[in-house]
Amino acid sequence: MLGQKGAVIWLTGLSGSGKSTLAYALERRLIEIGQLTFALDGDNVRMGLCKDLGFRPEDRNENIRRIGEVAALFAEAGLLVLTSFISPYRADRIAAKATSKGNFIEVYLDVSVDVCEKRDPKGLYKKARAGEIQNFTGVSAPYEEPANPDVRVNTEELTVDQCVDKIVAHLKERGQFDVSDLRKEAEQEKAQNS
Ligand SMILES: Nc1ncnc2c1ncn2[C@@H]1O[C@H](COP(=O)(O)OP(=O)(O)OP(=O)(O)O)[C@@H](O)[C@H]1O
Ligand SMILES: [Mg+2]
Repeated sequence: MLGQKGAVIWLTGLSGSGKSTLAYALERRLIEIGQLTFALDGDNVRMGLCKDLGFRPEDRNENIRRIGEVAALFAEAGLLVLTSFISPYRADRIAAKATSKGNFIEVYLDVSVDVCEKRDPKGLYKKARAGEIQNFTGVSAPYEEPANPDVRVNTEELTVDQCVDKIVAHLKERGQFDVSDLRKEAEQEKAQNS
């Protein structure tokens, strides 16, 4: 009905790597080409769904677990879900992938702490260096790089538009917008059940 296959497009990277910027640029592009999307972002989820959680490791685990579950439900409903969370732990991302039953595209925003710190769009690195924020990823808490991301974008070398192009090209390659495959699957299922 929607002309697309639902999937979770999971952006991961340091604070300031460009997850929110890219998610919203990607959302605009997908809407332009007629794809239904929904963006879950750190800044909105932490105010509602996860407002009871802090930044201790166990809170971060639970934060990502809930987001993974919600994203998987939206993907099951056929949407392209864009998530933009630091999601620093590899095990949490692997668990989110398992929750989405394979409909999961890990996008790693591969850019150094130095670059992110120079950008510091929210002034968070400054506060972390001054000791005003504890457990800050890249400064006083770890970031575990994805071992084998589906898409790697270097937001220092590429413009926002180029990053979006790269992700959209990957989605096309995966057949994410190819409805005929879905119809075939549905027909096969129907034939098997009859
Ligand atoms: N290619 C690019 N992709 C994304 N952002 C870029 C790129 N080039 C430069 N930027 C800039 O980098 C900054 C990224 O900030 P943004 O808030 O998107 O990061 P974030 O990863 O969402 O951080 P946080 O985890 O704190 O929410 C913005 O100021 C953006 O304009
Ligand atoms: Mg953000």
